[in-house]
Amino acid sequence: MTAAAKSPRSSSSAFYHLLNYPKSAFIFGCLSILIAGFALLAHNGWSFNNMSVINPKNPMDPSSLARPDQVVVKDVFLQLEADFKGQVLKGSATLTLEKVDSKATQVVLDSSDLSIGQVTSGDEELKFTVGEKQGFLGSAVVIELPKSTNPVLKVVVQYVTSPSASALQWLPPAQTAGKVHPYMFSQCQAIHCRSMVPLQDTPAIKMPYSAEIIAPAELTVLMSAVPQGEPELLANGDKKKYKFVQKIPIQSYLIAIAIGKLESRRIGPRSHVWSEKEFVEQAAFEFSQTEEMLQTAEDLNGPYVWGIYDILVLPPSFPYGGMENPCLTFATPTLLAGDKSLANVIAHEIAHSWTGNLVTNKNFEHFWLNEGFTVFAERKILGRMSGEPMRHFDALGGWKELQYTIDVMGQDNPLTNLVVDLSTVDPDDAFSKVPYEKGSTFLWYLEDLVGGALKFEPFLKSYYEHFKFQAIDSNQFRTYFLDYFKDENEKTNQIQWDAWFNTPGMPIYRPSFDESLAKVCQELKDKWIQWNESTPSPFKADDLKSFLAAQKEEFLALLMLEDPLSVKKLETMEAAYHLNDVNNCEIRYLWIRLGLKGKWTNAIPRAVQMVTEQGRMKYLRPLYRDLYAWEETRTTALKTFEANKPNMMKVAIQGLEHDLKLAK
Ligand code: BES
Ligand code: ZN
Repeated sequence: MTAAAKSPRSSSSAFYHLLNYPKSAFIFGCLSILIAGFALLAHNGWSFNNMSVINPKNPMDPSSLARPDQVVVKDVFLQLEADFKGQVLKGSATLTLEKVDSKATQVVLDSSDLSIGQVTSGDEELKFTVGEKQGFLGSAVVIELPKSTNPVLKVVVQYVTSPSASALQWLPPAQTAGKVHPYMFSQCQAIHCRSMVPLQDTPAIKMPYSAEIIAPAELTVLMSAVPQGEPELLANGDKKKYKFVQKIPIQSYLIAIAIGKLESRRIGPRSHVWSEKEFVEQAAFEFSQTEEMLQTAEDLNGPYVWGIYDILVLPPSFPYGGMENPCLTFATPTLLAGDKSLANVIAHEIAHSWTGNLVTNKNFEHFWLNEGFTVFAERKILGRMSGEPMRHFDALGGWKELQYTIDVMGQDNPLTNLVVDLSTVDPDDAFSKVPYEKGSTFLWYLEDLVGGALKFEPFLKSYYEHFKFQAIDSNQFRTYFLDYFKDENEKTNQIQWDAWFNTPGMPIYRPSFDESLAKVCQELKDKWIQWNESTPSPFKADDLKSFLAAQKEEFLALLMLEDPLSVKKLETMEAAYHLNDVNNCEIRYLWIRLGLKGKWTNAIPRAVQMVTEQGRMKYLRPLYRDLYAWEETRTTALKTFEANKPNMMKVAIQGLEHDLKLAK
């Protein structure tokens, strides 16, 4: 049974259906709903007389079972040891709680696959229950609070994570570049923090955190926080204890940890790049523009409040391009193109230091407030560093990606709305380019409407200042925007907020992009489409000589939108451009997809290699889907997936089981 089917929300919709039934069925239905409801409450540890908790879901966030509206977590202090043999984190979380409802007698937390041993407050042991697992939501943990009138109290939760915790990946030495030491890292966004720490796993609330982490002495521990001094060598000399503090209140999904045999290089006055030693020089080169990006971002957005900005280059199984963990962006090694051509991902994660990390979506239904703003800001940084035509070119590419995404998802798919309904949907399943690109297009539209960057950029700065350290929804953005531009209401009256927020499909406004950088891509694409293979090839290596990496990418992306290329054309293209040897992962990925689309057997081993060598979902999922769609490679897709599964993160496995039609 799905989580939704169990929730009182769907019980109440069942209730409305019953209104059409004969009276006896209606009464019977009501009774059974009441009994089922009480059984659910009893099971989850709620008391029968406390009717205020009849909805066990978080009223601010459909993706959380916690109840910060009753008692809210104000601070988290972690004391954990990393046990690489058992593949678990074990220790305690000390939660500082504040009663929102002065009559509250319980605190409700999120958890997923945690073993909770004991809960205490001072000397007192507290009663607690862990509710039945409700699918992707995990299990509510209900802790009975001590009888005290004090509105603030601390509880200590002793716990151990599961070896299959969805937030954590434990890599044996063989899965690392160095092959000698194990490695572990976390990825908490969207709702995986609950598998690492028992807390209120919702972006609606923010809290500072601190941590003491014990790990094998030869490894380094990093967190999304500021390290406190040198690690302490523990008594028997084989372990070290690291301390961290994140003073700025953050949402749970920004808690992050990585432990491995790591080295660092300074890349700027507030930045180091970290990775296994095999990548560290390359990473320092690749991300050398970091400080320039930070300064450009500060100029646009206001002061950078997080102190340090470090980058950790993870092992290849990291499932995302980048993750904006505060003080320490996590990045995939697939960004190491050798020519800085993929460093825009760093600009994106830097931009999150304001959009997402300071001003945060209240829940993942308003995810566009995080990602749409971040894409918009990322492109502003790009525009200042590389010129407006580059910004337009990038946005045009995004527009086409959005078109492609919406075609695949379906024009009427409600998940293509800017604001989505996640009452029954796992945020990981709702993830797509839509909040990124539809969101940034909306901001582009608003900028055009109010009279351009000179008006809109100061607005954005003031919006970040106004809502910093808060979590908001789309309506709060609307209200603030309308108030800021109240003297322009002739213009702002035209905004079709409901159409933008709540209707599926492509945006109702297409910006007029400067297409100067896209023109050559289009022309070369047309030349290939029009070429008749029975005539001599007019193509030569020089065709791409003046192309930026992003233009090569665009050229291939345009070909992907056409009918499949013939094998003859693909072979001719390889002979002319040597695309099989390109290091840039975006180009490599598109070139493989173009090959698979043209049923070119040459592309098969390259596809298998790419899905085996790295675990970034952006590449894995379409490549596996392509391999699956082609009958000749379907078995290869399934076998490769089975073989690679042990090296993949849970979130990627879940996505691929869906793509490969293996999900129940
Ligand atoms: N915060 C996201 C990654 C994320 C989103 C992880 C949702 C889990 C759930 C990050 O900032 C991101 O958007 N990364 C992109 C980078 C790109 C848009 C430049 C990625 O991973 O590809
Ligand atoms: Zn992002």
